[in-house]
Order: sequence, then C-alpha cells, then structure tokens
Amino acid sequence: MFRKVIAVMIPLSLCIALIIFGTLLGCRNNDGKEIETEAGREIVIGFSQLGAESDWRSANTESMKETLSERNGYRLIFEDGQQKQSNQITAIRTFIQQEVDYIVLAPVTETGWDTVLQEAKNAGIPVIVVDRMVDVKDDSLFTCWVGSDFELEGKKTVEWLHRYATLKNISPEDIHIVNIQGTLGASSQIGRTKALEDAANKYGWDLMAAVPGDFTQAKGREAMESLLAKYDNINVVYCENDNEAFGAIEAIENAGKTVGQDIANGEIMVISFDGVTEEALDYVRDNKISCIAECNPLHGPRVQAIIELLEMGKVPDKFSYVQEKLFAADKTVTQIVVDGDNYEVTILDKSE
Ligand code: AHR
Repeated sequence: MFRKVIAVMIPLSLCIALIIFGTLLGCRNNDGKEIETEAGREIVIGFSQLGAESDWRSANTESMKETLSERNGYRLIFEDGQQKQSNQITAIRTFIQQEVDYIVLAPVTETGWDTVLQEAKNAGIPVIVVDRMVDVKDDSLFTCWVGSDFELEGKKTVEWLHRYATLKNISPEDIHIVNIQGTLGASSQIGRTKALEDAANKYGWDLMAAVPGDFTQAKGREAMESLLAKYDNINVVYCENDNEAFGAIEAIENAGKTVGQDIANGEIMVISFDGVTEEALDYVRDNKISCIAECNPLHGPRVQAIIELLEMGKVPDKFSYVQEKLFAADKTVTQIVVDGDNYEVTILDKSE
C-alpha cells in the first residue's frame, strides 16, 4: 500500500514542480516550444486597428500580428475598426472588460479619445498609440506613441518639387497643383496637407483644390476624375498615399493624359507617400509616380520593444519617430534640405 502511494506521489509532485517551474521561467506555445517573455507569462494585448484601407495598413496589421504572436509569448486580440471611431471606442471598452495587459491603438482620427482613454487609465491598462496621434487634453491618458513625422514627410516631397522646378526653370506660377487628401482629421492627412499648403504659400504655387480621398484607390480615382473635369491645367497631383496615387493615375490615363515629370510639356506629375510595396516602387521606376516619401508601417517590433521596457518597469520615450527615406527615379534632384537637415534622395533604378 505504502509503495503504491509513493508510486503515485512521485510523478504527481514532479508534474506539479514542472508546472510551477514552467510558469516561473516561461511557457510553451502550441508547437511545444518554450516562449521567453520577461514576465514569464502570456501577455494579452488588445489591438484596435483603424481599418484596412491601404497597402500600408495591411503591412502594419501584418507586422503587429507577426510580432505580437503566440510564438513570442503574446495573445493578440485584434479588432478592425472599419474606419469608424465608434467601433474603435467599443473595441477599447471590450479590451478593458477583458482585463488585457496592454491596449494598442491605431486611431483613425486625432480627436475624440479623452473619455475612453480615461476609462483605460482608470482600469490601470497602459495604452500604446501607434501611427496616427491622439489629440487629448491630458497626455498621461496614453503611455507613449510611435509613428511617423507626417509633416516632415510632406516637407520632403514639396522640397523635392521646389528643387526640381527650380533646376528645370519652371516658374512657381506655372505649377498648378491639386491635393487628394487622406482621411480628414487623421494625423497623416493633417501633416501632409499642412506641408503642401505652407510650401504653396512660400513658393507661390497655384494650389487649386484639396479633396478627400480617404487613403483608398477607389476614392483616389473618383477624386481625380472630378478634378480633371473641373480643371484643365492640372500639372501636379499630390496624393496623400500610394493607393490614392494608383487610382489617380488610372483616372489620368483613362482621360487620355500622361503621367510623368515633363510638366512643361503637358505631363501630370504625381507625388505620393508610403513606398511600402514593390508595386509602388515600380511606379516610381516607370516614372508614373515622380516622388514618394516613405512611411514605414513596421511597428510590430517597435511596440514589442516598448512592452518589454514596460515589463521591466522602465519608462519608454513618450514620442518615438521613425526614420524614413525619399524615393525618386529622376536624377535631377539628389539631395534636399528640410529645416536645416540634409536628406539624400534614394534614386530607384529601372534595372534594380
Ligand atoms: O497614417 C498612415 C497612413 O494611413 C498611410 O500613409 C496610409 O497609406 C494609411 O492608410
């Protein structure tokens, strides 16, 4: 009898010891591989993504899912806001009820977050904001933000245009621009639009119209169709992302016009943002898009680094800006200066 009890007790206590040891040191994923997390526990993250409007957004979602994965010791609860702030607010409230460890928010627009972020703060859940910013009265409502300097991106493109026009002897008053904007109220729209408006005022360009294109290809095409119907002298289209540019180019070519840099001879120059896909970079190599300011969507590893810091009890930088390039195919402009800083133009070669 005593032997039987011992025979049962030893493996049982071994199992319990292994479970406790495993919990303290880490855990295993579905493949049975050990997951190394600083906390030695699964970290639950609620991620409210604003939508799936562009190639940039898909790459951003992919980066978050890939990094904040079960394999890396995380459980990611993903909610697509479908471009509606109300959906994102509901998602955040659900994350609070689920008592997640962290909330990651990619906000559709800047304003309107004070109440729900206060609720997250009251629940003691850190909020990491990615991509676009939130405009809240009290900055302590979010832990930190990581993303792009959208106004700087815009400034790079307009300085490129200014340098290009100067070197080609094109007078400022002969530059007739239309702006296809992103989602109104989004930081990326606000920054890029501001850069263009400031440059138009500074250099004396003819900025004829600004219409929203919601960062989508379909709206980009529709916007360009109506702009072409209204203005017959457009020679520069400033699209606030690549998907809008793809749509605008479709509309321009369907109207029998040609995209390119030779604006003195009737071509329409397209300027854009993102440079995330090979398709977009090929548009540059083919001279269909003249210049793209890169907007880097790979925030997954950045968010992971922030969470690791927080898990160690450290304080991350409140605002972290991503370094980004400027792409063009034409070799006329190889460098630009923005606010006293030099930026190389990455020239894309057709043979690459
Ligand atoms: O906020 C970043 C912008 O949002 C990207 O430029 C655009 O493609 C996306 O939809």
